[in-house]
Amino acid sequence: MTDMDSFITGLPKAELHLHIEGSLEPELMFALAGRNKIVLPYKSVEEVRAAYDFSNLQDFLDIYYAGAQVLRTEQDFFELTLAYFTRVAADGVLHAEIFFDPQTHTDRGIPFAVVIEGILAGMAAAEQKFGITSKLILCFLRHLDEEAAFETFRMAEPWFGRIAGVGLDSSEKGHPPEKFVRVFAAAGAAGLKRVAHAGEEGPAAYVWEALDLLHIDRLDHGNRALEDPELIRRLAASQMALTVCPLSNFRLCVVPDMAEHPIDRMLDLGLRATINSDDPAYFGGYIAENFRAAAAGRRLGKAQLVTLARNSFLGAFLDGETRQGYLRKLDEFASA
Ligand code: HPA
Ligand code: ZN
Repeated sequence: MTDMDSFITGLPKAELHLHIEGSLEPELMFALAGRNKIVLPYKSVEEVRAAYDFSNLQDFLDIYYAGAQVLRTEQDFFELTLAYFTRVAADGVLHAEIFFDPQTHTDRGIPFAVVIEGILAGMAAAEQKFGITSKLILCFLRHLDEEAAFETFRMAEPWFGRIAGVGLDSSEKGHPPEKFVRVFAAAGAAGLKRVAHAGEEGPAAYVWEALDLLHIDRLDHGNRALEDPELIRRLAASQMALTVCPLSNFRLCVVPDMAEHPIDRMLDLGLRATINSDDPAYFGGYIAENFRAAAAGRRLGKAQLVTLARNSFLGAFLDGETRQGYLRKLDEFASA
């Protein structure tokens, strides 16, 4: 391991953009398919990995939703979640705020309780085993309508004390944030945090909508905000955290090459950018690999990497004392 590799691995960090269904590795997919007697359209793990060749977000989503079909029991969701935390315990992750997509499961007859209880049990086990703290964010699928989001929101009500917030994901183009104004208002009234994917493939106008209509507390992706100077000023002035996902951006052709990734430009513009993995089983790497790819592609120095890690704790939905504790650990690491 090079000095930079071990620096990146050891760097205390939080992950703020991770779809738990996107951490389903092909090996676990096959194991769960076998256990649940589901026939996969692939003969081997190698064949699955070979299918992960995407030219846009929709290409990926089609395969990602198909893969999630193997998840059926509470035990399945538990194993999926614990596998993610086991992996990132080796990546210097101290805290994670993870997404789940309930509609992907409830729409095929899996009870909401099965999904969320399995995930929450995995999070609790991870804290016990690795000391990693975590929070859960319920995402609405934006290709479905707002009434479907409301149904999910109502289903989730008994668990409001155990989820940190709501998010918005899936196919962005043609599904503006404006579609979900009412359900996001209801989430805010219930005391939940609000985040949304915006400006990944969709225009800067969708980022404005996420800010002004959905009242988001954090912006997921946000790449295309860079096309709008007024929006950049707004995001910088409010110190809105952006959960940027370098390998995802490359694999979904949001950026043509890691050498052209805007991560350092975001920092230079005063944006509170962070580095995350999005769907690591599909995009070729967990969070430390995303740091490595960005660092290599953009020749980032250690000071920039520390800033990115600091931003992850500043952008996390932590109480003041916990946040300070993590920032102290980061400072100790950075000055060692
Ligand atoms: N964008 C939108 N929806 C998603 C993503 C993403 O990057 N990952 C999983 N669902
Ligand atoms: Zn995402």
